[in-house]
Amino acid sequence: MEYFVHPTACVEAGARIGAGTRIWHFCHVMSEAVIGRNCNIGQNVFVDNGAVVGDNCKLQNNVSVYRHVTLEDGVFCGPSMVFTNVFNPRAEIKKMDQARPTLIRQGASLGANCVIVCGLIVGRCAFVGAGAVVTRHVPDHALVFGNPARQRGWVCTCGEKLDAALRCQVCGQQYAPGAEGLGGVHSTVGPNIAKDR
Ligand SMILES: CC(C)(COP(=O)(O)OP(=O)(O)OC[C@H]1O[C@@H](n2cnc3c(N)ncnc32)[C@H](O)[C@@H]1OP(=O)(O)O)[C@@H](O)C(=O)NCCC(=O)NCCS
Ligand SMILES: [Zn+2]
Repeated sequence: MEYFVHPTACVEAGARIGAGTRIWHFCHVMSEAVIGRNCNIGQNVFVDNGAVVGDNCKLQNNVSVYRHVTLEDGVFCGPSMVFTNVFNPRAEIKKMDQARPTLIRQGASLGANCVIVCGLIVGRCAFVGAGAVVTRHVPDHALVFGNPARQRGWVCTCGEKLDAALRCQVCGQQYAPGAEGLGGVHSTVGPNIAKDR
């Protein structure tokens, strides 16, 4: 086996898990879950059927990745943060056919204990602060926090806040406005998925 599963974890037959991934104590990975390479899946994490976790993701303790949630590569999920998939659930009415997808784009960080309301896109390298409740799409490289989460600035790929000139004082990267938020001056900006929804 090219990945590690702690003996207390339950990884159902059929789950697709990439090489180098580590799955820690008391996790539950469903049979149709997909987890990429070199991920760290912390204690008590649940990955549902139909959930997709990209390569190099880090899921801290107590995160549940539900069906219809997609994490691109390099996504950080802070401890006990919460995804959702039904916008207005009722216990006695089946609503999974109305589930709304959530897409967390490459390199984004989701702070401890935040909530991502379903149907949203969190952009590339965006940063969601601890405890935030995200109710709107988050542009690439945006820093958002609070309840409801509001944009408070921009963050670099390295995780530091940008100055007013959209420059990172720590690593020197310069950014420019792009179609979905900020793009690095040398990076390409892809199709605007948010607009397509
Ligand atoms: C958002 C964050 C990156 C700080 O961003 P920042 O722009 O540097 O924020 P500052 O520290 O300058 O604070 C600015 C203001 O926002 C408030 N603030 C900061 N983070 C906040 C948050 N997550 N929620 C609500 N308010 C927050 C501060 O209290 C401060 O308010 P004040 O001006 O009234 O004093 C940080 O607070 C955070 O949430 N980090 C995530 C940590 C985490 O979850 N790690 C998980 C792995 S352990
Ligand atoms: Zn930087």
